[in-house]
Amino acid sequence: MENKKTILSGSTVTGNLTLGNYIGAINTWTQLQEQYDCLYFLADLHALTVHQDPAVLRERTYSFFAQYLALGLDPQKNIIFAQSQVPQHTELSWILTCLTPMGYLNRMTQFKEKAEKHVKNINAGLFTYPVLMAADILMYQADFVPVGEDQKQHLELCRDLVGYFENRYGKGVFRMPEPMIGKTGARIMSLQDPSKKMSKSDENEKNFVAVIDDAKKIEKKIKSAATDSGSEIKFDVENKAGVSNLLTIYSVLAGKTIEQLEKDYEGKMYGHLKVDLADVVVQKLQPVREKYEDLMKNRDHLDQLMISGAERASERAEKTIKKVYETIGLVRRR
Ligand code: TYM
Repeated sequence: MENKKTILSGSTVTGNLTLGNYIGAINTWTQLQEQYDCLYFLADLHALTVHQDPAVLRERTYSFFAQYLALGLDPQKNIIFAQSQVPQHTELSWILTCLTPMGYLNRMTQFKEKAEKHVKNINAGLFTYPVLMAADILMYQADFVPVGEDQKQHLELCRDLVGYFENRYGKGVFRMPEPMIGKTGARIMSLQDPSKKMSKSDENEKNFVAVIDDAKKIEKKIKSAATDSGSEIKFDVENKAGVSNLLTIYSVLAGKTIEQLEKDYEGKMYGHLKVDLADVVVQKLQPVREKYEDLMKNRDHLDQLMISGAERASERAEKTIKKVYETIGLVRRR
């Protein structure tokens, strides 16, 4: 473990994980688990920045945990845990909050978007959300953070916070993390409106495929995806955003290059592409759904895995918190 680089990433517990989350992030996580020291968590505290029904949030936390496992994350190879079960995250978050300029947070694109969407609930958590995210990352001295493109700005804040901390207190407490953003699939777009990113909290279900959707739903959603004018199957994000999005999904799931797909579909119609892509997605997600349903039948097992993940994470987190407390002048705790 000592000489392996550390990876950390997570997903906010809202909606259901989508193909966007899988292609942009979790697919990479499952590959990294073979070579790195990996921690993957459920950002349930981040979910509180929008209204949550308590019973739904709790149920969804189990569901996300099961979705992580069903998608191929191994609790033996990785530390998999729920953020709220490791209290050090909020402790470090406060300390970093006191180093973060308000003006910096004001510029965050996601804050602006969310504040626009939730006009009746622009709470301070929505504003300081990226600081909690920085705490998640810095806590485990992560070297790399595999995320989709939408998290890039948050990662920049995290890196700047390392600098702010070092300016005030000196070096050696936090490792500088690097974002790890894939070349293909870092931004999967909505199926109905390919100018927007695919989002798990989208109210219109037709905009995304959830990783636990059944075959019928998947087929319907892919077949009704918006395509573009013209008929050529060509990757051209500017003029053919819909088709390009479908090609990207196809490419990642089938392990074929976009060029290969363009050749395969030369002279064919959008309909052909959609039928085949629906098939590829169903083949990929059917076993995930079956495994997920199995896992959800045994809550005790999920509870045990979650507790053990939180214990392992907490042990690591405590080392960082101790170092931070000592550095900034708080009296050392036991
Ligand atoms: P979240 O839950 O929105 O998304 C989880 C991961 O999926 C990626 N992603 C996408 N990738 C490609 N195309 C899309 N349409 C798409 N939608 C989502 C996201 O980039 C992300 O990698 N704030 C984070 C959760 C978080 C976190 C962290 C991540 C909290 N603390 C520390 C990394 C490190 C979020 O809400 O992700």
